[in-house]
Amino acid sequence: MELAVRAAAAASCSSGTSLQLPRAHAPVRFRLHRHRHHPARRVAVAAAIAVEQESKVQQSNNSETEVFACPVCYEPLIRKGPSGINLPAIYRSGFKCSKCNKSFTSKDIFLDLTVTSGTKEYSELKPARTELFRSPLVSFLYERGWRQNFNRSGFPGLDEEFQMAQDYFQSVTGGVLLDVSCGSGLFTRKFAKSGSYSAVIALDFSENMLRQCYEFIQQDDTLLNTNLALVRADISRLPFASCSIDAIHAGAAIHCWPSPSNAVAEISRVLRPGGVFVATTFLSSPRNNPFSVEALRPLRQVVGPVNTSYNYFTEGELEDLCKSCGLVNYSSKVQRAFIMFSGQKPY
Ligand SMILES: C[S@@+](CC[C@H](N)C(=O)[O-])C[C@H]1O[C@@H](n2cnc3c(N)ncnc32)[C@H](O)[C@@H]1O
Repeated sequence: MELAVRAAAAASCSSGTSLQLPRAHAPVRFRLHRHRHHPARRVAVAAAIAVEQESKVQQSNNSETEVFACPVCYEPLIRKGPSGINLPAIYRSGFKCSKCNKSFTSKDIFLDLTVTSGTKEYSELKPARTELFRSPLVSFLYERGWRQNFNRSGFPGLDEEFQMAQDYFQSVTGGVLLDVSCGSGLFTRKFAKSGSYSAVIALDFSENMLRQCYEFIQQDDTLLNTNLALVRADISRLPFASCSIDAIHAGAAIHCWPSPSNAVAEISRVLRPGGVFVATTFLSSPRNNPFSVEALRPLRQVVGPVNTSYNYFTEGELEDLCKSCGLVNYSSKVQRAFIMFSGQKPY
């Protein structure tokens, strides 16, 4: 997408910190001596040319505005290393917040942009519905039967859900897509392969889901060379500049989030004006709920106690939540307990 379009979008984005575009150097003024060959004038002219050249270099280095932002203060991160939203470039880069001075790396396959990244003593337990998916076993099983189980509640299945989401995203083709709570990356891989987006960012809180995601990506050479990044982050603290993302997908995830309202507010903050949010979940009181006590009984025997305290919503609640976070043009498709809904950030 053209930088100018992004700049216009960022300029019109009124909520929160707006996307920081490259700052041109402040004009440097030299007092020029009248005599053309006066040594002081020659030095001043040379200095002016040097500053102008440095400014051009600076602008070309920054021409791709960093989409990643500090999870503490939301300032865009400064990257040291190759540019681009792809695995090799991010792996070889270091990221730093110029305001908080906090550093972030991608030592462990994914770029860890959680607030607690790098803490030595402090650790934090999230609610069970988030912690469950951090388990290596659940991450391994997720795409090997767990997800398929959702079809019993009315989920149409991977291919159809992907196509439905693509239909909602038509107006943002060519932009940056963020697949939040991507799990093992089953949709991320499809979005990346579709060629419909300039970059795809897979985000999850679970380190093991992201490792699983990377394993699947590794099995497909075409994916290793696409504009695809893996980021660890909390949905309630999205490490992106305000108004920087064109499309956000959240498959079967909102019922797992610790605070759906904080999460949708964050989604609304980072979407650029006109950006589209698409999510799926289980409607409340569903029959054939895959997380019901009955359905979870066989799973309990394998992974031990499974907490079922998911948040389920009525359709009215989901629409209300989107609206209260400033999203417009709400629409949805329902099939038994399955719902896919969408909202748009107003222009
Ligand atoms: C049921 S899986 C959905 C995976 C995939 N999107 C799909 O459509 O099947 C829910 C995902 O939400 C993630 N999740 C839970 N709490 C989260 C949080 N606080 N921030 C980010 N992701 C979270 C889990 O790690 C898990 O991968």
